[in-house]
Amino acid sequence: MIEASSSEGVVVLQGVEKWYGDVQALTSVSLTVHEGEAAVIIGPSGSGKSTLIRVINALEPFQQGSVIVGGIDLRAGDRRSVDAVRRQVGMVFQQFNLFPHLTALENVALAPRRVLRQSKSEANERGAALLERVGLGAHKDKQPNQLSGGEQQRVAIARALAMQPRVLLFDEPTSALDPEMVNEVLLVIQELATGGTTMIVVTHEMGFAASVADRIIFMDKGVIVEQGDPRRIFSEPSEKRTRTFLASVLGGLYEAPTLGVEDNNDDQVGESRDKPHS
Ligand SMILES: Nc1ncnc2c1ncn2[C@@H]1O[C@H](COP(=O)(O)OP(=O)(O)O)[C@@H](O)[C@H]1O
Ligand SMILES: [Mg+2]
Repeated sequence: MIEASSSEGVVVLQGVEKWYGDVQALTSVSLTVHEGEAAVIIGPSGSGKSTLIRVINALEPFQQGSVIVGGIDLRAGDRRSVDAVRRQVGMVFQQFNLFPHLTALENVALAPRRVLRQSKSEANERGAALLERVGLGAHKDKQPNQLSGGEQQRVAIARALAMQPRVLLFDEPTSALDPEMVNEVLLVIQELATGGTTMIVVTHEMGFAASVADRIIFMDKGVIVEQGDPRRIFSEPSEKRTRTFLASVLGGLYEAPTLGVEDNNDDQVGESRDKPHS
């Protein structure tokens, strides 16, 4: 296991190249996420957002470049590094993946007992406090099938927090939810961000992205096309592909800025991909 200095960032990727067979999913991806930062990744389907999250969580190997998480260098790819990284990273998936036969509290307390060797009373006490924090204090003894999707996802967030991760990763945490439950989950994530939790969030919720992000990262076709302050990215993105994407997801809400940026060809909407998409 190689330990590197983490003073440059909690998550540091440099020149990462990732292929699935012949499909290149990440091309020369470099990214640094600092302590306390909320980085939000947006981009079209198939642009490599999930792959990036999975590489950071050591769920996917990569072929070139370096990935350093919490000071652990994943290049070696050995078991110890992978385990060490997973302990530093909390992951919230689109599907909540709770254990169906355990209560909310048992779901939250399980890993701290098994992995962090917390006593049952300590794990339960911390777990109850975390469920309180996500607004589910009254539901701690319910099983997942007695909870709504939004409540289950909040349990999943509490479960991730229970491992005291250095960084939380969210991959479209509200995509599987009924619309009326999206906000309750976004509010919890927003509160964590405001409280200084380091996080990387993949989302299609642009209003949320704009309000929660310290930095927006726009990806397309495996490349980080541009990144920056949300106000700038949403009001005057410098790349045409970013503007095209924002126009497509925000529809009439988005007016492409014209200030000083002229596009003579208005071919963005019909722009074809320059390589076949699997
Ligand atoms: N397990 C896999 N095997 C082969 N190709 C994959 C796999 N997962 C993703 N891909 C491909 O990698 C690219 C990026 O996918 P993904 O990271 O899921 O994008 P996003 O999350 O932005 O939709 C896509 O072309 C996708 O088809
Ligand atoms: Mg995805």
